[in-house]
Amino acid sequence: MEPFKIKAVETIPVTSREQRQAALQEAGYNVFNLPSHLITVDLLTDSGTSAMSDQQWASLMQGDESYAGSRNYFRLEETVRRITGYRHVIPTHQGRMAENLLFTNLVKPYDHVPNNIHFDTTRANIEHNNGVAVNCVIDEAYDPVEEVPFKGNMDLHKLDRVLLEVGRERIPLVVLTITNNSGGGQPVSLQNASQVSDWCRRHDIPFFYDACRFAENAYFNKVRGNQSEGIAEIARAFFQLADGCTVSAKKDGLVNIGGFVALNDDDLAARLKNMLVMIEGFPTYGGLAGRDLEAMAQGLDEVLDERYLAHRIGQLQEFGQALCKAGIPIVKPVGGHAVYLDAKRFLPHLPQEQFPAQALTCALYLEGGVRGVEIGGLMFAADGEWPELELVRLAVPRRVYTRSHLEYVVEVCAQLYAQRESIRGLRITYEAPVLRHFTARLELV
Ligand code: F0G
Repeated sequence: MEPFKIKAVETIPVTSREQRQAALQEAGYNVFNLPSHLITVDLLTDSGTSAMSDQQWASLMQGDESYAGSRNYFRLEETVRRITGYRHVIPTHQGRMAENLLFTNLVKPYDHVPNNIHFDTTRANIEHNNGVAVNCVIDEAYDPVEEVPFKGNMDLHKLDRVLLEVGRERIPLVVLTITNNSGGGQPVSLQNASQVSDWCRRHDIPFFYDACRFAENAYFNKVRGNQSEGIAEIARAFFQLADGCTVSAKKDGLVNIGGFVALNDDDLAARLKNMLVMIEGFPTYGGLAGRDLEAMAQGLDEVLDERYLAHRIGQLQEFGQALCKAGIPIVKPVGGHAVYLDAKRFLPHLPQEQFPAQALTCALYLEGGVRGVEIGGLMFAADGEWPELELVRLAVPRRVYTRSHLEYVVEVCAQLYAQRESIRGLRITYEAPVLRHFTARLELV
């Protein structure tokens, strides 16, 4: 059961099929263009969509809005130092600003930055500095059905290959994303992180985490890796292996806005803070209000509660199992924050050029007002090259939906599966030159 009870409620919209049909047409068959008051269950993202606790809401009233030296900053600093062990804590308004600061200061043109799989914003921030983002995840990560416990692990041979190709001077840092969002929210094992750490030490290359979902990753290590320590100790064991991390606190920070960079290197920290002042804010608020810093510190402590994580990860596993039981093809194993529908197997009658994952995303909305997100050709196809997988991500916000909401989503998926042959493909009528999936408009084929 949920390890919390509900103190404030928000009514969710119920719409008619006619309303949804009209909204979808108006939105150009792109769910990013839908207004949220027409969504019944919103599984677009787990980012910034968490429900805060009573303690977090209370902490908002303790905001110290001093321009410099806010006491909320010192609480955040103490919390992040305790969790990560890193000396310097630099707050930012969200994750991509943390990445921007770090990569702008470390990445030079033609530098290569390995990661298990780069999230869109880390890739974009590296490429913006004319660097090259390289994915080095184990091959199994690309197989949608193979059940591997730590499918987010880095392949050390792939790291060796990058080193051989470009040389140590062209690798300013190695990043490891925990959990690996773009690979399905799959965890990285402590053993693998330790090997990556050794590799970086051997070659004298800085090692950072993209640690948005560090607590979920620690929980997977507890249950799949049979670790006897508590979640905080496991998380700390991960952080000790690296030189720092960037974090979007909109995930495991359990807040609606916030992020930070934490690191040990004094010189680098000074450079990041200088840049922060120019583009984000003074180092003791970093683009946030004092109250946001307080809520973030509180959230970072709450997320390490093992009962919370057991429910969180358990809810996702249960959601995945129910979909499987209904015969619906999903990516396995289920990761930490989302279930991914396999649109190629769901809609085998649609060629990839007709965007099967986008067609399924729209069909889910039309059928039941459920919003997921396409991770397939609309997002990734470029220059005539199509991605291997056509997926619909159903990301579950933290502490927001209960079992019955997800049962409803399973029912909607099952109804759709029963009539899957009637689902039609889509073609693009408008696309922007970059990141087209956010604003593209489509029509039925
Ligand atoms: N790194 C990872 C692994 C992420 O999943 C995200 C965001 C970011 C960095 C960027 O953080 O949004 O605070 O700037 N992921 C969200 C998602 C948007 O829906 O997966 P941000």
